[in-house]
Amino acid sequence: PLPSTESTAPSIEGIRTILVIGSGTMGSQIGMAAALAGYETTVQDISAESLAKARAELTARMEATVAKGRLAAAEAEAALGRLSFATDLDASAAGADFVIEAATERLDIKEQIFARLGQVAPEHAILATNSSTLGASKVAAATGRPDRVCNMHFFNPALVMKCVEVVRHRATSQATVETTLELARRLGKQPVLINREVPGFIANRLMGAIQKEALALAAAGIASREDIDTTARTALGHPMGPFELMDMVGLDVIDFIAQATYAETGDAADRPDAQVAALVAEGKLGRKSGQGFYAYP
Ligand code: CAA
Repeated sequence: PLPSTESTAPSIEGIRTILVIGSGTMGSQIGMAAALAGYETTVQDISAESLAKARAELTARMEATVAKGRLAAAEAEAALGRLSFATDLDASAAGADFVIEAATERLDIKEQIFARLGQVAPEHAILATNSSTLGASKVAAATGRPDRVCNMHFFNPALVMKCVEVVRHRATSQATVETTLELARRLGKQPVLINREVPGFIANRLMGAIQKEALALAAAGIASREDIDTTARTALGHPMGPFELMDMVGLDVIDFIAQATYAETGDAADRPDAQVAALVAEGKLGRKSGQGFYAYP
């Protein structure tokens, strides 16, 4: 299709069907959040194994939520009924009004996905990326509808964290911004708007500053990691200290974000941390691998 010059982004009422691409930590929970909010939702992944794992994890999580009395059993069942899992991108995209891409953080993969979406998703569909490191402008041109492309960045764990960063790039239309903000609200989130693509958006810039200080204090032997984490929790009211949080996010993800930021800014202050890189090289990726800064037996 020819690049469109005027926006035909749907209003929020036009959004009925949501496609989430990628069934990892982020994609699976974003999909569940959409299904819980009443949307017919498909989580698509090229790996059937990853989809099966996502389905099992989400089912268990809904059961636990019901057991805690946080959700009626019928509602959980209905939400799981609205959620489907698929390997075929073309078929999944054909009926989608809104797409949230949460695939691997690699530009070549995202470019391929967005080029394909531009061909197979309905003309009106908004195509958003959950990327925290790649501004949507990098993939917008490939879609032929850059005005309907933006970042919609969720936080881990996506079923819990309220913030969604909506980032517009130069060509993003006002209608796309408004519908994306409103969709985030309907998913029970508190969206914030970022008017220009900057590395790290808001949250990762704030988080990065704290992590940098924490890593420097620990490396200099000024305080233990445990005491630094305790301070963040008890003096600043953070739910987790910086080391615990890095372990939860994944040290590979932390390192990747730092590398991407450094590649973009070239600022010595943004240079990836050697302690984190060393742990990643040893396969110590945080909670998911059983060992990061801390051990998770
Ligand atoms: N997935 C889904 N739900 C989860 C969860 C997970 N992995 N972990 C905990 N929860 C749920 C629990 O089930 C519980 O739900 P209910 O209220 O319904 O019972 C609720 O969260 C609270 O959990 P807990 O009581 O077990 O523990 P907690 O109070 O310590 O909360 C936490 C856990 C929500 C993770 C909290 O510690 C927290 O907010 N941590 C900071 C998280 C954070 O900063 N995330 C941002 C990471 S950066 C990022 O994502 C951006 C990027 O680009 C890398």
